[in-house]
Amino acid sequence: MTAPRTFAIKSFGCQMNVYDGERMAELLGAEGMTPAASGAEADVVVLNTCHIREKAAEKAYSEVGRLRREDGTRPVIALAGCVAQAEGAEAKRRSKAIDLVVGPQAYHRLPQMLREVEAGARPVDTDLPPLDKFAALPRRRRAGVSAFLSVQEGCDKFCTYCVVPYTRGAEVSRPLGDLLDEAAQLVEGGTRELTLLGQNVNAWEDGSETLATLIRRLAPLPGLERIRYTTSHPINMADDLIAAHAEVPELMPYLHLPVQAGSDRILKAMNRHHTAADYLAVIARVRAANPAIALSGDFIVGFPGETEEDFAATLQIVEQVGYASAFTFKYSARPGTPAATMGDQVPEAVKDERLQRLQALVMEQSRRFNASKVGTETRILVDRVGRKPGQMIGKSPWLQSVFVDTDAQIGDMIDVRLTAALPNSLAGELIARNSKQAA
Ligand code: 5AD
Ligand code: SF4
Repeated sequence: MTAPRTFAIKSFGCQMNVYDGERMAELLGAEGMTPAASGAEADVVVLNTCHIREKAAEKAYSEVGRLRREDGTRPVIALAGCVAQAEGAEAKRRSKAIDLVVGPQAYHRLPQMLREVEAGARPVDTDLPPLDKFAALPRRRRAGVSAFLSVQEGCDKFCTYCVVPYTRGAEVSRPLGDLLDEAAQLVEGGTRELTLLGQNVNAWEDGSETLATLIRRLAPLPGLERIRYTTSHPINMADDLIAAHAEVPELMPYLHLPVQAGSDRILKAMNRHHTAADYLAVIARVRAANPAIALSGDFIVGFPGETEEDFAATLQIVEQVGYASAFTFKYSARPGTPAATMGDQVPEAVKDERLQRLQALVMEQSRRFNASKVGTETRILVDRVGRKPGQMIGKSPWLQSVFVDTDAQIGDMIDVRLTAALPNSLAGELIARNSKQAA
């Protein structure tokens, strides 16, 4: 076999995986490999998998099966991401087509592992050395106008439903200096919006530095217009971070703060370390700092033991908060997590029915939030070309997509008047391009 020349990376799951996928692409690029025109043509395919919910491993194996070509050949297949971490060497036994298995903290070794594959081996690396990979990755060059920056990985909170502490390891913050360097590289390469990522991003710390001080240090970077962060835990919503929402104009008025459920009994069984009232108190402080903030959350329905009364408390907390958007999930038992073996697992049909009711409420809230913006002026960051001729798509400060007819280019900040609320987005008309007044 000749040395592989082209690659394709397919990322599933969360934004951290998107970030990891970009870093793997840069790493393979630095080895002289080029992105393949399509996954089917690639010499090497990296499946960057997610393990968070239902049948994750099965989905990954069926993806592997789909990579077989009509002539019976297949690319070199690397199983990466959280399924790789969870399955380890077992993956090689389950599928002969998998050539290497690399976990989320070991992918800096991908080029070396590909060389081992060339030599006839089937290497597995699921070590969880904190931070090693970042030092071994190439400098950031050209990322998108909106780019992710991973600042914190892993989790020590051990919510009883969640695999992350097992697939991503312990909670680790990257050092301040490394983050300032990587952010500067991204902004030099044209990035105008940075989203700081972490499984518990608001727990980021380096000595006396906190996420709030990191945001304040990043804000003055010339060319950087917007900062976001995700995902936060309610117990780490510190006063200085809340104050930053009032004081740092570059910090967008958007907060993704999962509560998961509204019943204190369920929150306790989930090991969330907070009650519904604690969460509502955090929301009240955030709104006092910035009344214009858009709130978003994650919800799980059908956690073991959830009664109709517990579920009603979830609907109630959604009513009380008023979300701009929210992600809703049916509880999925994850092997190895404490909740998977709890009694009183909720029947699928009940979960389905509760999910539908919750989704209807959340959709109504999004619709209401979007409708409340119609007639107002705002600034959007243009990040995509629209489907219709002359149409561009940008992001509002509150993270909705806004469709607008303009000759503005990707990366432009433009002022628009919002004219219509669609189910999941807004339409706007151009007021001014690259104007300087505050959004
Ligand atoms: N089942 C369903 N949803 C889950 N999540 C995490 N683990 C599970 C699970 N076992 C959801 C949570 C989390 C989001 C990323 O995924 O709501 O915030
Ligand atoms: Fe999925 Fe969690 Fe891994 Fe992200 S960290 S890919 S959400 S299992």
